[in-house]
Parts: sequence; C-alpha cells; structure tokens
Amino acid sequence: MKPIQVGLLGIGTVGSGTFNVLQRNQEEIRRRAGRGIEIAMVADLDTTRAKAVVGDAAKVVGDAREIIANPDIDVVVELIGGYGIAKALVLEAIAAGKHVVTANKALLAVHGTEIFKAAAEKGVMVAYEAAVAGGIPIIKALREGLTANSIQWVAGIINGTTNFILSEMRDKGLDFDVVLKEAQRLGYAEADPTFDIEGVDAAHKATLMSAIAFGIPVQFDKAYVEGITKLSSADIKYAEQLGYRIKLLGITKRTDKGIELRVHPSLIPAKRLIANVEGPMNAVVVNGDAVGTTLYYGKGAGSEPTASAVVADLVDIARMDGSDPAHRVPALAFQSSTLAAAGS
Ligand code: HSE
Repeated sequence: MKPIQVGLLGIGTVGSGTFNVLQRNQEEIRRRAGRGIEIAMVADLDTTRAKAVVGDAAKVVGDAREIIANPDIDVVVELIGGYGIAKALVLEAIAAGKHVVTANKALLAVHGTEIFKAAAEKGVMVAYEAAVAGGIPIIKALREGLTANSIQWVAGIINGTTNFILSEMRDKGLDFDVVLKEAQRLGYAEADPTFDIEGVDAAHKATLMSAIAFGIPVQFDKAYVEGITKLSSADIKYAEQLGYRIKLLGITKRTDKGIELRVHPSLIPAKRLIANVEGPMNAVVVNGDAVGTTLYYGKGAGSEPTASAVVADLVDIARMDGSDPAHRVPALAFQSSTLAAAGS
C-alpha cells in the first residue's frame, strides 16, 4: 500500500520530535501501521530552522496553504497552536478532504464542536491524542480501553508547569516567580504562561477529557477555572504539616445534577499515589463502574513524549484511511449536553 503522505504545519519542539521519531522507528511503525508514514512537506515561517531539521527528506515551504492545496497530502499535522491561524488552517485542511492531527488543546476545547462537525461532514478524521497529557495515551484509554464503562469521574494533574512549580516550591522552598522562570527555560510552559499558572491549559485538557468520558460537546466556557497564583510557600508548608500535598487538579465528574468540570488547587492526602507525582510529570486517574479506579502516569510535555502521541494518531489514520467513514471511531460522539453549573 502507498505510504500515507503527511504535511506538518510548524516544526518547533513537537514537530521536530515527530520527524525524528518517524525517522528513527520507521520500520516498526511501517509494520504496525501496515504502510509507511512519510512527512512529505513541512511549513514553517522559519524555513531555515525547518530545513535544519528535515534536510532533504521533505519539501520545506513558508506558506502552510501550499500543503493544504497539495492533492498528494493525505494528513495535515497542525502544531502551530492557538486559536487564530491554526483554526483557519485546520478548517481549510478538513474542507480540502485531509485528515487532521493536532496537539492544540486550546483550539479543540474552544472550537472543537465546529471542527468535529466539519470533519464528520467531510468524512475525515481529527485525532488529538497529543492535546491531553502529552505522551500518556489518555484519549485512547477513555475512548477505547475503557469503552465498556460508565465513567464516574476523571481527575488529573494535567499541567506539567504548575506541577513542577508546586514541587519545587515544596522541596526547595523557592518562590513562585523563580520556579516559573525555570519552567519556561526548560520548555514546559505555554508561549503565554498565564494559561499554565491560571489553570486555563489544564481546563482545556479537562474539557476534552470530559467530552470524551461523558459524551458531551466540548464546553470550556462552562468550566470553573482557578490556578495556582494565589498559593504561597506557606500554604504548601502548612498542607505538608497536616499530611497533605497541594496539586492543581482537573476534575470532571458525573453527578445527579449533570457533569461537573473544574480545575483548582486541591489538598490530597500525602500517601495517595497521585500526591507523589512530582516535577513536570502528569497523572490521570479514571474511575469506571466496571473497571474501578485506573491510573495513567507519564510525561505531559516535551518534544518526543508529545511526538509519541502525534505519531500514534498518524498510525491510526494510516490504518483507517480509505475505510468507510461510518465504521471509524468518531472524534467525539455526543450523547447529551448536560453540564452542571460551574464548580457546583
Ligand atoms: N504547558 C503545558 C504543560 C505543555 O505545562 O503541561 C503541555 O501541554
């Protein structure tokens, strides 16, 4: 079977990781996908940077629309981020009949309903494993591994930057501002770190998990969102003395009044596994009626951990491309639109 042809929009940290993983593991990936996966084109405003990563292996262009207009490209991987140009390009790629892979949680949490609808109408796939908890395959776990269950609740540390900050404040007694700068230097933080520290990034991810777990449309605007900026080293120290750790949790839960969706700092007994997730790591706990409680742990950010999820989506698409759209796993299958009042 002909290798599937991929166009990358943006070749920064995650894009270069995706290129490198596909190159390094190409034989295994070809075997698992049943066909090759080739990055044929790369678009980046900085074409010199892009050429330095891909060499002669892919055509480098400065204009993303050259990729969308190319009839040979089967899949567009959007790694630009944000809601602006990324939204326009994703919708244009779908309209051009291309499958889309994206790591863009902000875009999907806010505009997912429109994007998933456009994809369903066009019969193409939108895959977004990399959008939540980086390399942890939590989308697949919720949608496929736990599909037999009525999910009761999902709770997770889903922002590495804030978990790193809280860990360093506790372990080293450092001030918030100092640790934030270090998180930015290490490449964990979003381009705009207020999304991390105010809980917005975690809320984007919790919104997506909530939609999958409970079959509701993405409703970021209804989430209760509180970050870690009001916490001091003293709060963390006193919590410790009482036998608790403070973690920023994204929580979504089935209740009698509907589905709760919230992000806020939480006191967790220090002996719980999730209380001991330190540094930039992520962990998600899911409770289903049949399976009970399950825990998923790993790197929530970074070049190759996130690329691991992007490539997994490419393998899924390579396996399903050409199949009857009616028999594919939908990006999101809506069942109801019940969401309890924010934070209730
Ligand atoms: N800024 C995010 C985090 C990156 O800290 O978890 C991965 O989404």
